[in-house]
Amino acid sequence: MTYENIRLEHDGAVATLTIDRPKALNALNNKTLQEFEAAVKSLGADTRVLIVTGGGEKAFVAGADIAEMSSIAEHPEAQKFAELGHRAFALLESLAIPTIAAVNGFALGGGCELALACDFIYASEKAQLGLPEVGLGVIPGFGGTQRLTRIVGRARAKELIFTGGRIDAAKAKEIGLVLEVLPAAELLAHCRSVAAKMLKNSPLAISTAKRVIEQGADKDLGEANTLERQGFAELFGSEDQREGMKAFLEKRPAVFTGK
Ligand code: CAA
Repeated sequence: MTYENIRLEHDGAVATLTIDRPKALNALNNKTLQEFEAAVKSLGADTRVLIVTGGGEKAFVAGADIAEMSSIAEHPEAQKFAELGHRAFALLESLAIPTIAAVNGFALGGGCELALACDFIYASEKAQLGLPEVGLGVIPGFGGTQRLTRIVGRARAKELIFTGGRIDAAKAKEIGLVLEVLPAAELLAHCRSVAAKMLKNSPLAISTAKRVIEQGADKDLGEANTLERQGFAELFGSEDQREGMKAFLEKRPAVFTGK
C-alpha cells in the first residue's frame, strides 16, 4: 500500500512508522490518521517491534491539524474526529508487540498523545512535549487527559494541561514521561538497540507481560496479581517456555518461535 503522509519501513523484525508531513510539522489530519490506522493494521506476525517517529528535523508530531480542525463547526463532526484519533491510538496500544516512540522534536497535543499510546518514549535533546489544547479553546482529544495522568500522576498532568506549556526532554525525563534523552543523531539507533535486546527474548512472553501490565494497571493489586499468575501459568507448555528453559540448562542462546 502507498501512503501520502506516513512511511512504513521494515528492517527484519523491526518496523518504523514515520509520520511524514513536514510542511505542517507532521500534524495529524483525517487522512494521516486514517493512513496511520491502516499501517498499524497492516503489520504482520513477522513484525516484533514497532518504532514510531516523525519525518524531518523539527517535529515528531505538532498535534492534530489545527487548520482542518478549525473548519469543524458541529459537535458530531468533532466527536467523529476524536473517535478516529482514539481508535487509531487504541489500536496502536493494543498491539501485542513492544512499541517505542522516538520523539525527535515537537510532540504537542495529538503528537504527545501519540507518543503516550506507545509502550515507552525516548526523546532527542531537542524534543519539546506538551498539551497546548486549552490555548486553542479545547482539551486534549486523543487520550491525553487519561494516558498522561496514568503516567505522570494527576497533579503533573493538570499542571501541563492547564498551563498548556511545553517541557523540554530533560524535564520530561524528570517527571517520568520520557525514559531517556539522546543526542538527535543517536535517537533512532538507541531505539533499534533496545529493539534488538527485546528481539532476543520470547515474543510470547513479552506479549503476555504487556497484556498483564496493561490489563492490571487499572485494577486493584489483588485482581492485577491474579492476571499475572494466569499469564505466568499459561506460558507453561508453550514452545517458547520449553525452549527458553532448555537453552538455559544447555548453556546456549534460546531460539524462540513465539509459539
Ligand atoms: N496543525 C496544522 N499546522 C501546523 C500545526 C498543527 N498542529 N503545527 C504546525 N503547523 C504548521 C504551521 O501552520 C506552519 O505552516 P505554514 O508554514 O504554512 O505557515 C508550519 O507547520 C510550520 O510551523 P511554524 O511556522 O509555526 O513553526 P515554528 O517553529 O514557528 O513553531 C510550533 C513550531 C511551536 C510547533 C508551532 O507550529 C505550534 O505551536 N504548532 C501548534 C501546536 C499545537 O497547538 N498543537 C496542538 C494541536 S490541538 C490537538 O492536538 C487536539 C487534540 O488533542 C486532538
